[in-house]
Amino acid sequence: MRHLLSAGDLSLTETTEILDLAEEMSAVQDRPLKKLPALRGRTVVNLFFEDSTRTRSSFELAGKWLSADVINVSAKGSSVSKGESLRDTVMTVAAMGVDALVIRHGASGAPWQVTQWVDAHILNAGDGTHEHPTQALLDAFTLRRHFRAHDGGDLSGRTVAIVGDVTHSRVARSNVLLLRTLGAEVVLVAPPTLMPAGVASWPVAISHDLDDVLPGVDAVMMLRVQRERMSGGYFPTPREYTIGYGLTRSRLATLRPGTPICHPGPMNRGLEISAEAADAASSLVLQQVAAGVAVRMAVLYQLLGGADELPLTRVREGV
Ligand code: CP
Repeated sequence: MRHLLSAGDLSLTETTEILDLAEEMSAVQDRPLKKLPALRGRTVVNLFFEDSTRTRSSFELAGKWLSADVINVSAKGSSVSKGESLRDTVMTVAAMGVDALVIRHGASGAPWQVTQWVDAHILNAGDGTHEHPTQALLDAFTLRRHFRAHDGGDLSGRTVAIVGDVTHSRVARSNVLLLRTLGAEVVLVAPPTLMPAGVASWPVAISHDLDDVLPGVDAVMMLRVQRERMSGGYFPTPREYTIGYGLTRSRLATLRPGTPICHPGPMNRGLEISAEAADAASSLVLQQVAAGVAVRMAVLYQLLGGADELPLTRVREGV
């Protein structure tokens, strides 16, 4: 694997390898001394044209804990704000001698386009409404860990509801692809106005009735309502949305006991998810955040050949 652009590019074997590797990295994350010399001398640039808290900081930690040099370049505060183009920006950064570029951009397909311009490994950290593959990997990691602890099983045969603003969600697209690869069934739940055109051809079930779906699922992933991508206003109104599609306190009670609740963040508390659901004992939201570092360590280790410098046996030994 040279780049990570889409969750759909990962086979079952490749996905399982990354999730298993992330388990090893998670053990490192739990140690007092987290540094591994796997990517010594390598340079990773986080190039973010859209805002981020979780993805950018976890890629930064992941690179640093693997001993890579990591720098962050954001649109705000860079020459992008003076009008420099995407091509000139990535060519400029790449000219400094970069091994990997982690890119978040508002245009779907931007990370793929960058692969045509530079030799560095390209990791998609979210492109428009298209994909967010490392989010899907960390969601799968979190749920797999939950199910293994709960009943010893994996994701295969589970039913996962993905609920909310599917139209604008790159998280939903990547999760559909990866969950299906892992053998899970997916049901998308959204108002008709927030269900994307062409969804009928996706390998999922579709519902507009959250109350009908919730009691039968093994996990529920709530999506953020992306108001910043709804320039013409949005329908339903926030109040109607919460009534029809919010994971409210009363809906929480209709889930089977212990059903895990995920949200990629940032959460709109009181809109798509209530405080009771976000903070429930069955909420995995903070486990997802923690998994983000381990999964991104695994992806960087694999793409940048970390095993050449530090074989996995030495990672396990704690170096
Ligand atoms: N889930 C996610 O991508 O969060 P950030 O926008 O904070 O990176």
